[in-house]
Amino acid sequence: MNLRPFLAPLLAALLAIAGAHAQENQSIVVYGASGSIGGLIVNEALERGHSVIGVSRSPDRLTVEHANFTPVQGDVTDAESFTAVTSGADGVVISVQGTPEGDFAPENSTHALAASTAAEALVGMENAPYVLQIGGATTMLPTIEEMLANAPFPVSEGTPPYAMLIGHKVALDTYRASDIDWTVLTPPFGIMGWTPDGIADTQQLGEYRTSTTEFVTDADGNMSIWVADLAAAAIDELENRAFVRQRFTIGY
Ligand SMILES: NC(=O)c1ccc[n+]([C@@H]2O[C@H](COP(=O)([O-])OP(=O)(O)OC[C@H]3O[C@@H](n4cnc5c(N)ncnc54)[C@H](OP(=O)(O)O)[C@@H]3O)[C@@H](O)[C@H]2O)c1
Repeated sequence: MNLRPFLAPLLAALLAIAGAHAQENQSIVVYGASGSIGGLIVNEALERGHSVIGVSRSPDRLTVEHANFTPVQGDVTDAESFTAVTSGADGVVISVQGTPEGDFAPENSTHALAASTAAEALVGMENAPYVLQIGGATTMLPTIEEMLANAPFPVSEGTPPYAMLIGHKVALDTYRASDIDWTVLTPPFGIMGWTPDGIADTQQLGEYRTSTTEFVTDADGNMSIWVADLAAAAIDELENRAFVRQRFTIGY
């Protein structure tokens, strides 16, 4: 029996079920495009044929030269600016960090404010884009006490590291309480690929495993990911939307 006439429609139906959003040529906004991880996410998206709007408070910092790359000025903590930059996009990646001068409250860390800005700006937007934010590894732990006890550096309340760590928990809680389409991609502790000048390199394995509940460890018990594979996982998620309204982590 010749099965070929049936295979094409079957494949098309399976692809439609697998991911209505597995679109090529998405328009993707990247906050943190001037940053280490965000910069690689920009490169990955462009390599896969997507159009990228890179956002920075100082767009002169965005030196990518590519026909599908547009640098824009924007602030991820400003809802009006966020709305103007993201409306019409298919997806938004948020890969930012920072603490305001002299204010080390986790709620006021840039990544926590980014989540509340996204939730506020997107909730009523027509055809609102899907948001993926890069999170913090310690949020895989269930309590603040365990997060602090297992942090990879000393952390005490009222300091920038505390705001950074707990700010990621505030961001995750904000998304969980929101009514927008979001994903938080939580890296493992061991992000590999930093160079002495802080720029991530492009070494990668080209594969990774995922979990929504626990750290992903390899056969030797290591929790690690090449930063280029983290960038690939971010764009995989934008294309496949396997973890909408969930947090997931990755590892080998
Ligand atoms: N193991 C882990 O869990 C782990 C490890 C590393 C990083 N991370 C997380 O991954 C994310 C990215 O880290 P990274 O090392 O790539 O950061 P990075 O290199 O320090 O870059 C930070 C980015 O944040 C942007 N930014 C800061 N404030 C902003 C604002 N108000 N509006 C718009 N953009 C703003 C900066 O852009 P401009 O200055 O150009 O505006 C910059 O591109 C962070 O959330 C970080 O905590 C997690």
